[in-house]
Amino acid sequence: MTSPTLVMPTRVLVVGGGGREHALAWKLAGEPGVNEVVVAPGSAAIAAEARVRTLPGTDATDPAAIVTAARAMAAELVVIGPEAPLAMGVADGLASAGIAVFGPTQAAARLETSKAFCHAVAEAASVRMARSRAFAGGEAAAASAYVEELGADGVGIVLKADGLAGGKGVIVTESIDQALELAPSFLAGRAADAPALVVEERLEGREASVIAICDGTRAVALPAARDHKRLCDGDRGPNTGGMGAYSPLADLDDAAVEAVLDTVHRPILAEMARRGTPFRGFLYAGLMLTADGPAVLECNVRLGDPEAQVILPRVAGAIGPLLLAAARGRLPEDAPPLIGTLPGAALGIVLAAAGYPGSPKRGHPISGLEDAVAAGALVFHAGTIGRPGGGYGTNGGRVLTVVGQGSGLAEARAAAEQAADAIAWDGLQRRHDIGLDQPIPAGAAR
Ligand code: AMP
Ligand code: GLY
Repeated sequence: MTSPTLVMPTRVLVVGGGGREHALAWKLAGEPGVNEVVVAPGSAAIAAEARVRTLPGTDATDPAAIVTAARAMAAELVVIGPEAPLAMGVADGLASAGIAVFGPTQAAARLETSKAFCHAVAEAASVRMARSRAFAGGEAAAASAYVEELGADGVGIVLKADGLAGGKGVIVTESIDQALELAPSFLAGRAADAPALVVEERLEGREASVIAICDGTRAVALPAARDHKRLCDGDRGPNTGGMGAYSPLADLDDAAVEAVLDTVHRPILAEMARRGTPFRGFLYAGLMLTADGPAVLECNVRLGDPEAQVILPRVAGAIGPLLLAAARGRLPEDAPPLIGTLPGAALGIVLAAAGYPGSPKRGHPISGLEDAVAAGALVFHAGTIGRPGGGYGTNGGRVLTVVGQGSGLAEARAAAEQAADAIAWDGLQRRHDIGLDQPIPAGAAR
């Protein structure tokens, strides 16, 4: 892509401190021309990357603190990783201070922070989503009636909390009776007129995440990835923030990703611009690939985690110039619809602490990190803390994402499994079937 609008930022501030931000900092710091990446607050493991510095103790959700951090390093670009700072208006604060920010305004972040808003925008933009309706705290009877109505049409039910819940506020129910039984728990404690619950049609199919770099009107897609949301092998157990991911997808090739840009991202961008709240940032479409084609399950306003950890290592060139151009609202007119990718595949396995996704147990020393890295894996830290005397301990729910790369999915999977096997701590939880949901081609390395 040659265009006068593509300029490499030399100093980048990344907001956040989890696995996704570790991957972002690693990717940006490795790009030619980038002199310094500062991550606020970052983590001890992120600080160990070359050309990366962190600002421990920074409140990532405080716009004034992030503006101060950006000014102090003379950041040419700020990239906001997690949803919480976006929901708190950190992008608005940076924009008001005249600092280029890649990440949506608080108003545009409502695509993620309110599922009801996302449905309203999708409907106005003729983007296919599951049938659904939103209910306030005082609408228990109406919610039950809608569950019955969908049930009468032979449709299964998904119950979702209307608000940020880190992927954990969703229950895919097994029956109409179960939905009727559980719906009131979403309404309890909410004000009568406060948004509380989205009742949604249960769709069948495989999921896929298509994330695009957006500048308000234009979109460039990153390679598609597949997250594994359930805690346990075989897609059993509770929903989590994501237990592993891989890219590319055999069932969503480049042409299909381009079609998703046309049917999902671009119409949403047009509708958001029409409403006076243009969307600049990563627009993440969580899709169900149904027998009738892709349908949107949710929109997020940021990179996925752990999707970012497998997507970013696959990006062929520098991502910094695209993010800076998009932050300025000026992605090149001639930008190809898909970012250039390296051949091969990447697969990430999330290693989680005992107790996740409930109350994770902290403070356990982690062994085997060096062995995993020596085996060639990328190890991105999400919930770790540096230990006095060296090494790391567990300090969160999702602790690490271990990423293997290879010429194909099977090889990437084997590399990730081998590296993940090397790592241990008390009560480590992980899945052993990431990427096994699609057939491994005959003859591929295992
Ligand atoms: P969400 O936070 O909306 O992405 O939901 C979390 C997970 O719940 C999704 O990744 C799906 O696995 C599942 N899910 C959400 N909505 C639906 C739906 N309408 N039909 C089937 N599964 C769903
Ligand atoms: N892995 C799903 C998400 O980031 O929302």
